[in-house]
Amino acid sequence: MWKGRFAQETSALVQRYGESVSFDWRLFAHDIAGSIAHSKGLLKAGILTADEQQKIETGLLEIRHEIEKGQFEFKESLEDVHMNIESELTKRIGPAGAKLHTARSRNDQVATDVRLYSRACIDVLVKLTRAMQAALIECAERGGDVVMPGYTHLQRGQPVLFAHHLLAYVEMLDRDAARLTDCRKRVNVLPLGSGALAGSTIILDREFVAQQLGFDGVTQNSMDAVSDRDFIAELLFAISLIGVHLSRLSEDVILWASAEFGFVTLSDAHTTGSSLMPQKKNPDVAELTRGKSARLIGNLMSILTLIKGLPMTYNRDLQEDKEPLFDSIDTLGLALEVFTEMISGMDVNRAKTTAAASDPMLLATDLADYLVNHGVPFRQAHEVIGKLVAYSIEQKRGFGEMKLEEFQRFSPAFEADVTACLNLETAMIARKGIGAPSPQNVKAQLARWRAALNA
Ligand code: ARG
Repeated sequence: MWKGRFAQETSALVQRYGESVSFDWRLFAHDIAGSIAHSKGLLKAGILTADEQQKIETGLLEIRHEIEKGQFEFKESLEDVHMNIESELTKRIGPAGAKLHTARSRNDQVATDVRLYSRACIDVLVKLTRAMQAALIECAERGGDVVMPGYTHLQRGQPVLFAHHLLAYVEMLDRDAARLTDCRKRVNVLPLGSGALAGSTIILDREFVAQQLGFDGVTQNSMDAVSDRDFIAELLFAISLIGVHLSRLSEDVILWASAEFGFVTLSDAHTTGSSLMPQKKNPDVAELTRGKSARLIGNLMSILTLIKGLPMTYNRDLQEDKEPLFDSIDTLGLALEVFTEMISGMDVNRAKTTAAASDPMLLATDLADYLVNHGVPFRQAHEVIGKLVAYSIEQKRGFGEMKLEEFQRFSPAFEADVTACLNLETAMIARKGIGAPSPQNVKAQLARWRAALNA
């Protein structure tokens, strides 16, 4: 492709070192879409005749069809997907093919391809994220009114509905989907027409080309356009954060599935056994997801590090942007799919959660609130209940087993109605502020999400 200036062949080793077709072949459909749009731009500018443009378009579509059917041979010697396709096209249609690269460089071409690829993948990832939310909602609904301890510092804190816990992840995933959608806006801008770095003296209607490809607009600085990979960094961040959220959920599921917690049962189809210990049922899907999130973060670090030292404009280093991008998209896509399946097969164990949730200590804050409602300043109430907790531990008797007279030893503000706030059901109903886990609230949230996800 650049034989004019060179007297020597490229070293075989350099070819092997520099080729990208072994991984960027995946851009083929987008590369072809970009080339067809470009050819229409060239037609509009009078560089191609209608007949030449037609030949190019038909030839490219044929090549695409063959690649899809696995009948196309990519050659390492042609370096990348762009040159493989262009050279095959020219071989097939002759002179018209040789005109296709007018007013274009591989620099604006690859930037265009990667944007198209990212855009398509974002749409898939958003769908998968929504499906994951739907699985969580469905699992939460199956859990019904199951109450379990909520934790801080992995110590029992206050009672929550199991559904409320899962809904926390639904919220995270909603922000995740919004981040992907927001990133898509910056992805969806056409760099083609920026040439190698300084546009071209042959003027194409870039807005027209953008329209052909469904871009919302065109880039405004050719140097920026060929070297910008912000959009990849942004996408890899959004992906990493989804990975981090799945990793947190993994951690919860792993704890819950342990004999120590026993809060959930995972289906046989989403767990694995041990080759040695016959009794084992391991939450591998969750562990793998926790592990794979490390890769997603690593890929984000790769792209940031890749960009940070680059002078303007395009540098070959940028070829290294693709593997982390592809890997993160593949990894997250599969993680979301398998996690969605696993959550759909996850059942909550009411007996275990109920036993854990009936720990009277979970209502210590409710007792403090009771005193506040009876005129005791909170700090003072906190101390009174602290002493009551110590007494309860020493006596080995829960709050529910104590007499009113014992409560009153700690504060005269206690009255006969204190027993009411020690009832778990009443305690849950009382948590009715916005965002809190009263059964009423949780029901409304589930309905809201159901409607939103169906829409
Ligand atoms: N394979 C290259 C990449 O991914 C395509 C662009 C090559 N441009 C160049 N000036 N050598 O970045």
